[in-house]
Amino acid sequence: MLSTHPAQLQNSGHQYLPLTDTSVKNLSPNQELLPLTAKVNSSDCLEIGGCDVTKLVEEFGSPLYILDEVTLRTACRQYREALARYYPGESLVLYASKAWSCLAVCAIAASEGLGIDVVSGGELYTALKSGVDADKIYFHGNNKSTAELEQGIESGCTIVVDNWLELRNLAELAQAAQPTRIAIRLTPGIECHTHEYIRTGHLDSKFGFDPNSLDEVFAFISQKPNLNCISLHAHIGSQIFESQPHKDLAGVLVDYLTKASHYDLSISELNVGGGLGIRYTESDDPPSIDTWVQGVCEAMVSACKRQQLPLPKLLCEPGRSLIGPTCVTAYTLGSRKVVPQIRTYVAVDGGMSDNPRPITYQSLYRVVVANRMSAPLTETLTIAGKHCESGDVLIKEATLPKTEPGDIFVIMSTGAYNYSMASNYNRLPRPAAVLVREGEAHLILQRETYQDVIRQDRLPKFLTP
Ligand code: LLP
Repeated sequence: MLSTHPAQLQNSGHQYLPLTDTSVKNLSPNQELLPLTAKVNSSDCLEIGGCDVTKLVEEFGSPLYILDEVTLRTACRQYREALARYYPGESLVLYASKAWSCLAVCAIAASEGLGIDVVSGGELYTALKSGVDADKIYFHGNNKSTAELEQGIESGCTIVVDNWLELRNLAELAQAAQPTRIAIRLTPGIECHTHEYIRTGHLDSKFGFDPNSLDEVFAFISQKPNLNCISLHAHIGSQIFESQPHKDLAGVLVDYLTKASHYDLSISELNVGGGLGIRYTESDDPPSIDTWVQGVCEAMVSACKRQQLPLPKLLCEPGRSLIGPTCVTAYTLGSRKVVPQIRTYVAVDGGMSDNPRPITYQSLYRVVVANRMSAPLTETLTIAGKHCESGDVLIKEATLPKTEPGDIFVIMSTGAYNYSMASNYNRLPRPAAVLVREGEAHLILQRETYQDVIRQDRLPKFLTP
């Protein structure tokens, strides 16, 4: 029930109120602040996936990434079902694993029928180890090494070729007996409104071929029997709330496909990339997964009709909108510093090392206090991390109840690009992650230890004590 989902109710003098109806699977996860299974239990504590968050912290430590299986599977299904509903041709959803790459997350995506988009040898290795079929892996990257290209060829995945150097290297490396499947990434020249660091489709981007070189690219590939070009790809950016840029992109890709039809190539797929935004704060208003997919499908179908082309297999590769709303990060509250007339800081036991997005992109987040869910919101505080960096602030202005050290702060919508961009800054061990389902928690990433932190350190002999 939309109106009673905890994350929809704010500033009513109370924190988020309990769910009364748990049949939330029709909600689009990217429009929610909290995972779909979030509830407040009889101890006034936040519960996710049937697990009391405060108990999870007792058991697994703090900070803790908490992933809700229902939310992740629901988002995967919504993409897949919407494509089946609105696209009369074949389709495939790829999970952009850069948003969060680990064995368990890749395995869940694959078990929902999704393929995986990887951007490095490490992500490819992870996807393969999680059991994903190489037929459904697409290997991106704007500067893949020779070793990575060889790894890609050997695995049997599709290599998304980004530039001429890579295309020529692949033509050298690929075996004639077993042609390598490739996709061509293009820079479509479509602008969208998002942070400049996460915009990729405008012409001044480091990614992809200039569309003006397409004839040359197609002519080159058509002379290479060891390269089997099956797909054209473009990605215009991330955290996008408008639907129009992706609809325009569908039309542009169909134009490129028309051009390809003049060459002896067997391109049968178009990939519109990822980019659908999610709700980090109440003012974020992204379209639902269903609406976004519908827009892309309709644009693709009508562009193909216009150009009198058969419908290609339609691919998209969402990352943030699949994993972002699935996860929250729990922290334990520590020190407090009052700066009279200016602000009060409260500090948690993590920060920019487990969530570098606020300091990198000035990203906004929302918080609840997991052990006081219905306490009145009486204070506006700044939530700081524990790093030696003044900018290490997770939320500048958080509306909170009266709190004390030991309280469990839960920051919402932290699944995308938090763990995957986490660091050991100040030699903090990276947090653990648990997957919650039906009242049980399963460890999917072990908490790093101090031994892990120095694992790669080497002490030259002359420095050995
Ligand atoms: N496909 C390609 C080729 C991409 O480059 C990306 C994201 C995606 C798919 C997935 O996009 P999504 O659906 O997640 O928007 N670290 C930044 C985001 C960087 C996005 C990079 N590319 C952040 O924390 O906001």
